[in-house]
Amino acid sequence: MGGLSKKLFQIKNLTEEKSTNRLLVDSGNLLFKRKIVAKGINQERLTAATILDVYTDIGYDAVAVGPHDLAGGLTLLQESKASGFPWLSANIVGKNGQLLFKSIIKKQIQGRNIAITAVSNAPERAIPGVEMQSWEEVLPSILKQITTEHSDIFIILLSSLNNSENRKIAQIFPEISLLITADSRQGNVSPTLVNKSLLIQTERQGKSQGLLQISLGNSRQWGQDSQKILADLQNKLGSLNWQLQRLLKKSKSTGFTEKYAATITRLENEKEALTTEITEMKQQVLEEQLDGTAKDTFTYRFLPLKKNMPNDQPTEERLKKLNNDIRVLNKKKKETNKPIGQAAVIRLPQSLIGSNTCSSCHELQGDFWKTTQHGTAYDTLVKKQKHLDLECLPCHMTIDVPGGKFESLITESLLSFPEALQSVGCETCHGNGQKHLQDPEHFKLVRTPGINICLTCHTDAHDDNFQYQPKLEKIACPAG
Ligand code: HEC
Ligand code: HEC
Ligand code: HEC
Ligand code: HEC
Repeated sequence: MGGLSKKLFQIKNLTEEKSTNRLLVDSGNLLFKRKIVAKGINQERLTAATILDVYTDIGYDAVAVGPHDLAGGLTLLQESKASGFPWLSANIVGKNGQLLFKSIIKKQIQGRNIAITAVSNAPERAIPGVEMQSWEEVLPSILKQITTEHSDIFIILLSSLNNSENRKIAQIFPEISLLITADSRQGNVSPTLVNKSLLIQTERQGKSQGLLQISLGNSRQWGQDSQKILADLQNKLGSLNWQLQRLLKKSKSTGFTEKYAATITRLENEKEALTTEITEMKQQVLEEQLDGTAKDTFTYRFLPLKKNMPNDQPTEERLKKLNNDIRVLNKKKKETNKPIGQAAVIRLPQSLIGSNTCSSCHELQGDFWKTTQHGTAYDTLVKKQKHLDLECLPCHMTIDVPGGKFESLITESLLSFPEALQSVGCETCHGNGQKHLQDPEHFKLVRTPGINICLTCHTDAHDDNFQYQPKLEKIACPAG
């Protein structure tokens, strides 16, 4: 985890200005180091939830589900998927063969079409509810699906398969332009052309990152940048000319013509060859401009995460909070000496979008809400170091309580809820906002929450003096 905030610092610095034409992708094995992670609340799961938060904030475009990501079971992955995390896999399916994650993510960058897909190898232990299909089975149809819409689309495959399989894929599917791999037995792999695909990998656990700058031509073929080659050749000719002039002058002024003759002849031959090369390259540049067959070109750098690099402050804060959470958890474990958390059904925050998103359109109500106790209900728990207590979280968070009864709710998953669902948010009173967000005029939310909603939390045990009307007035959002 130590490298995480340096990594974030680096990403922000590299991409802040041009975030519209960059893609941030990861080939997977992000969450866990172990092959299997215990149920319940534990250090590993708290850490994984923090990693997800950090990756969500920086705005990753696609993250492949690797076998280690499955080590904690499906729940965490499905919850983060439901709140918008860009998990991607074309070959991880459920018991009935249905896809569990998105299989293709499409992007447009500067008007060019890009598709990202992902395949992974199987986890070493079976995961309940998860089946794996082989890449041989899924890739043909996925690639067909991608290319029928745009034949010249730039295709990226994220793969946690091993190197020999990746090479096989490159041989069989030349339509894949770029394979970003995560073979744990290999470290950094510089861009390597295999058949028509470029293979690339950065070493695992974030010791370095890879920055690949691609300039897309219009034929899906990797090639050299002929403009740049031409410029290099012209520079070379320049310095050759200068050398020649100097020697000719010397030979004339000293009179030792024989001494210099051989070198001069050699340089003159070189000059002639270079001139021919330049003429040809000029021709090529011209042709490329005329028929528009420029190739895709790239430059590449590995960016090591150096010890003395600054940290990203928001990430540092998160890690501090994580460390504190882990401390509290361990203390609690010692006290009770029994496992925390219950097994069970999990409610996903599927159609909840979080108060921040609501406030982006309803600024006035958002500002008001922050001043109410509902807006700080989670902080109240943090102050008392009770924010990991499953008995407290349900009423101090934004959740979709089935039938208003907490009994049927499995609270363990609340720990991995996104920050935006902490505290008693807008959707507690106005209802789930997913559809309203997409089309506010057609999908209206509840305007005035009824007493039953309040009573879910304002129970006798927690509020022995609940009167609907006066309390409603206290928290009613302003009009406008
Ligand atoms: C994309 C902007 C947008 C977002 C995001 C948004 N709303 Fe709205 N909301 C609107 C608009 C526009 C209206 C007015 C619709 C109308 O009356 O036709 C509205 C109306 C409302 C109303 C009044 C309904 C009524 O009957 O008078 C409530 C309450 C409301 N929104 C709550 C929310 C909540 C809670 C969220 C977050 C879950 C949210 N909104 C997110 C745009 C948005
Ligand atoms: C069934 C819902 C529910 C549960 C569970 C719950 N609370 Fe609350 N809590 C409330 C409500 C409602 C209030 C507001 C009470 C009022 O209006 O007087 C409240 C208020 C509080 C306050 C007072 C805030 C203030 O500054 O006045 C604290 C502190 C608090 N809760 C902590 C906890 C802790 C710690 C737990 C777990 C042991 C917990 N709550 C569990 C519903 C709940
Ligand atoms: C504890 C319940 C509760 C919470 C939480 C809550 N609201 Fe409200 N909201 C109300 C009540 C009550 C009204 C007033 C309804 C009425 O006029 O009858 C209201 C009114 C509104 C309206 C309509 C305002 C108008 O034009 O008259 C909007 C929009 C709204 N809320 C948005 C939000 C947003 C956004 C959030 C979160 C940032 C939020 N609400 C959080 C209870 C809540
Ligand atoms: C998801 C649980 C939940 C729901 C639903 C809920 N509240 Fe609360 N409410 C709380 C908690 C928790 C607090 C205390 C927060 C704190 O201070 O940390 C609180 C505090 C309040 C307070 C301030 C303390 C007080 O008693 O004066 C008012 C007023 C209030 N709620 C009114 C309402 C009303 C009205 C509704 C229904 C429209 C409602 N709440 C629905 C959890 C809830």
